[in-house]
Amino acid sequence: MKWPRAMKAGRSMSDRRIKIAPSILSADFADFGREIRAIEEQGADWVHVDVMDGHFVPNLTFGPMAVKAFRPHVKTLMDVHLMIAPVDPYIEAYAEAGADILTAHVEAGPHIHRTLQAIKSAGMKAGVALNPGTPAEALEHVLDLADLVCVMTVNPGFGGQKYIDMTAKVRRLREMIGARDVLIEIDGGMDPKTAPGMAEAGADVLVAGSAVFRGGSVEKPEVYGQNMRAIRAAVA
Ligand code: DX5
Ligand code: ZN
Repeated sequence: MKWPRAMKAGRSMSDRRIKIAPSILSADFADFGREIRAIEEQGADWVHVDVMDGHFVPNLTFGPMAVKAFRPHVKTLMDVHLMIAPVDPYIEAYAEAGADILTAHVEAGPHIHRTLQAIKSAGMKAGVALNPGTPAEALEHVLDLADLVCVMTVNPGFGGQKYIDMTAKVRRLREMIGARDVLIEIDGGMDPKTAPGMAEAGADVLVAGSAVFRGGSVEKPEVYGQNMRAIRAAVA
């Protein structure tokens, strides 16, 4: 399998320090290039891109053409979270768009096993996401195929929603993953108050939209840095 470009530059996907992946769903939609550069310069580990189809979730965001336009601005890893159904017809398009990690929801169709295989054969890291109502056990037979498990701590579709506690699920997944090289990512409502519990339960990556972009802008990028440092300090 091809390793994402950022790993070639010496940044491993799985070094154990907790990672922050700002969701550009909370960025200025008229200025993605500068927003991406600003969050990376301020210390973002990955860039999280939320793809929504108005069908699997009640909101619409980015198609492959938009994601391809983001690509040259991303120097770290582009972490693409698909909230779409079906998934399989679009895997190749998101690979061509330059996704490093492509995450599909287990609820998005009957064949998550095939979907994860297809993501890996397209040369990307494969992620699998769980809605708050879906148990950890839904992943029992696909953990060997996954590089990342995304635990949703809101119902997907919108930024800025209230955190739903999934501590028990994260603990359970940590046990199920065992010695496998699979990262746990938490997505939704992460801020300096909610992040520590998730870090303690075993999270590796925290997605944060509103808590990173709040109060900042490309003119005031230092606020993004302060917001990220506040989350890091809370989980340290
Ligand atoms: C929700 C998305 C999240 C969301 C996170 O459907 O998957 O990535 O944008 O935003 P906050 O951090 O504002 O909850
Ligand atoms: Zn997301």
